[in-house]
Formats: sequence, C-alpha cells, structure tokens
Amino acid sequence: MLPQTEAMTQAWPAPAKLNLFLRVLGRRPDGYHELQTLFQILDWGDELRITVNDSGEITRCCDSNIIGAVIPESSDICIRAAKLLQARCSVTNGAHISLKKNIPVAAGLGGGSSDAATVLVALNKLWCCGLSQQQLARAGIELGADVPVFVLGHSAWAQGRGEKLQPVMLGAGHYLLIFPAFGISTAEVFEYAGLKRDSLPLEMTATRMRPGRNDCAAAALELYPELARIMQDLRAWGRPYMSGTGSTIFLRFDSRKPAINAASKLKCRYNVRAVGGIDRSPLLDRLSAGG
Ligand code: C5P
Repeated sequence: MLPQTEAMTQAWPAPAKLNLFLRVLGRRPDGYHELQTLFQILDWGDELRITVNDSGEITRCCDSNIIGAVIPESSDICIRAAKLLQARCSVTNGAHISLKKNIPVAAGLGGGSSDAATVLVALNKLWCCGLSQQQLARAGIELGADVPVFVLGHSAWAQGRGEKLQPVMLGAGHYLLIFPAFGISTAEVFEYAGLKRDSLPLEMTATRMRPGRNDCAAAALELYPELARIMQDLRAWGRPYMSGTGSTIFLRFDSRKPAINAASKLKCRYNVRAVGGIDRSPLLDRLSAGG
C-alpha cells in the first residue's frame, strides 16, 4: 500500500442534520424508543481527513479541544466505527483519522453519528471492503440510531429507531440554528419520566414535509428551563423548533436573505448559524469523486 499523507487526502464531509419533526410512538423491548422523524440533511458540518496505512492501528488527532480532552479514544465514535468495520471485514490495514469538529456536541444535530457514518463510508472504500450501503447502514445502527441516515446520504422519512428510511425530496431549505450554551444528553431526555411516548404515526404525505411537533421538546424544556426562555425570545422571528433531543433550536425561512438578516440581529445574544437544507449529502459526491 502506498503511504499517504494528510495533505494528499481531500476532506470527507460529515454533514449535520435537523429533525424537522420527531414523534415518539412508544418504548421498545430493547429499551430504545420507536420513533417517526423527518431528517433534513444540512449543507454544513464536520470534516474528516483519513489516511490508511499498514500498521493495523486506528489512530486519531483532531483540532478540537472538546473531543481530544473529553472523549477518551475508547469511546470516540470515529475510532469505534473504524474498529467495527476493521473487525467485520477482517481488515489488517490501519487508519489515521483527523477530525475538524464544527458541529457542537450534544446539540441534536447528529454530529457524532455523521462522523461515524463518514468513517464507515470512507474506510469501506479506502480499505476496499466492498460492503453495500445497506450493510454499512446495518453496521452503523450498532454505533448510533442516527448513523444509517448519514450512510444513506439523503434527507429521509424515518421510523423504527431511525433506521427504516425512505429518501424524500424536501427541496432547498433555509434555517437559522441557535446553539444554547449547553448540550443535552439524548439518553437523559429519553429516560425522562415525563416524556410523551404515545404519539400516533403520521402518514407520509407531501403536506408533512415541513417542520412540526417534536415530542422530546416538552421534556427538554422541563429539564432545561433556559431552553423555554430562548424559545420564547425567538418567537419574534418565527416559530422555533427543537432538533432531536436538543439543545439546538431552529427557525425555518422561505429564502436565505431573511435567515441571514435574523442571524445578524441575533448574533449578539446567541451563538447562531444560517445554513441550507439539502436533499443529497456531500458525502455521496465525495465518494464518487474517489481518492
Ligand atoms: O443511538 P444513540 O447513541 O443516538 O442513542 C442514545 C440514547 O438515546 C440511547 O442509549 C437510548 O437511551 C436513547 N434512544 C432511544 N430511542 C431511540 C434513540 C435513542 O431511547 N430511538
């Protein structure tokens, strides 16, 4: 195998997602919850550089203090994804993973899951494992409920734990993301006694392809009253929604200009970012570009 340097490798994108709506249909015997959600892929996210080598080792480095300082290698989802694929396909080669972390941690934007999906997709190619997209998605669910949608690489209507996916065309979307100064543990919200767990499933129709109720929001607002204050404050700009189990709040706009305008007005009070909704993940384009 030819030695590669990081400079030789093009970055692999790991986009963020929004849950435009999220319904909790019930608790499953395996402890997880049966969900129905609409995943919107975003045109913004993390970036990974991955070099393969013949050491057999999986190593990492990242430019973010958060990951390096707080997450030990053994629980780093990128390392776990690489090791999972290595074991599944009896790969003897190693890899070095370098992560540029833009997506906040514990923000409900699927950052860690997207990083893991990108590692699976990239190493499947670089190590010549030959797994199909479906096989990768099935491996991905072992790492996190949101991994399969990022392997699929398309905005999608989802059920089950989030792995029964139907790609959807949402068209261009314009969103303002508001990042509270704290993250929220997904497990904490799903374990909360007051979580509404009895929503009825919706039929997948054209009129449902937009933001709607998030059953986890009421629980997150009770656990983190500061979220309620932020949402109230944002009502002057439109209807605020929460993504996943939080903490990110988002507003949807019909075009980019009002989203940018709201961002410039709100940035003195909050950490905000105007982003675009896209149907096809840039990971698929990177995959077909090769290298
Ligand atoms: O799969 P992921 O790591 O994202 O899930 C984090 C936690 O959220 C799980 O341990 C589980 O407690 C909860 N969860 C759930 N039902 C889901 C997804 C996540 O109860 N569909």
